[in-house]
Amino acid sequence: MKGVILAGGLGTRLYPLTKVTNKHLLPVGPKPMIYYPLETLVNAGIEDIMIVTGGNNAGDFLRLLGNGKEFGLKDISYTYQEGEGGIAAALSLAEHFVDGEKVAVMLGDNIIEGSMREAVHRFEEQGKGAKIMLKKVPDPRRFGVPELDGEKVVRILEKPENPPSDFAVIGIYMYDGQVFDFVRTLEPSARGELEITDVNNAYIEQGSMTYEILDGWWADAGTSFESLLRASNLVMKDGAGRPGD
Ligand code: DAU
Repeated sequence: MKGVILAGGLGTRLYPLTKVTNKHLLPVGPKPMIYYPLETLVNAGIEDIMIVTGGNNAGDFLRLLGNGKEFGLKDISYTYQEGEGGIAAALSLAEHFVDGEKVAVMLGDNIIEGSMREAVHRFEEQGKGAKIMLKKVPDPRRFGVPELDGEKVVRILEKPENPPSDFAVIGIYMYDGQVFDFVRTLEPSARGELEITDVNNAYIEQGSMTYEILDGWWADAGTSFESLLRASNLVMKDGAGRPGD
């Protein structure tokens, strides 16, 4: 299974911190933000990883991560997103790299406490389709929100005024090789982006979407100064971020 980390976008919500660097290179506790999703994928057993980045500081990813030796990798693939066309647009740049295999996609600003190993394993066993991970949150309006009917996801609404549940769709998505066909059918949303939520809804309509509830804490570090601080506090309290762990 391949892994893709999306670390493009302009990070305007964290301006001026992002004036001279990429959001995913900002510190979260003792490490740059991008370290955490990379460690999550590696710990889940995924060794073939591409980072999609963009903006004026893309070269810094190479200087920071190199071939991924520090993470036990043989190499890392990189690609460049021009502009800020949305999460699904960033993912589409990884089509050649993924080459028809299954893929775990992680947003570069998402940090989790626990492991994805078991969920990835269950997705490998699933056959075709996709899997999303959910977490109960106090403020679902800020996220993609699923409407649930028992074991089924009925649909996902992106940042809804009236959330149909208390869950957020977190930024770790597992897809089969069809994902790029779905991305090709997308139209830009009201905010002018190709939305990952529309990709997920295509799988739901096909009847091939599964979900799991994530264990442990989850932080979306990149949406505000508060979320960046919260992520740092969680990492430091947890001890998980200390160098050498
Ligand atoms: O964090 C989980 C949430 O992430 C989900 O609940 C939402 O459904 C999903 O749309 C997304 O919402 P955000 O508003 O938080 O997404 P954001 O624009 O912050 O982008 C998240 C990451 O995706 C960002 O760290 C970098 C990457 N990205 C984003 C855009 C818009 C790209 O690589 N390229 C892009 O053009």
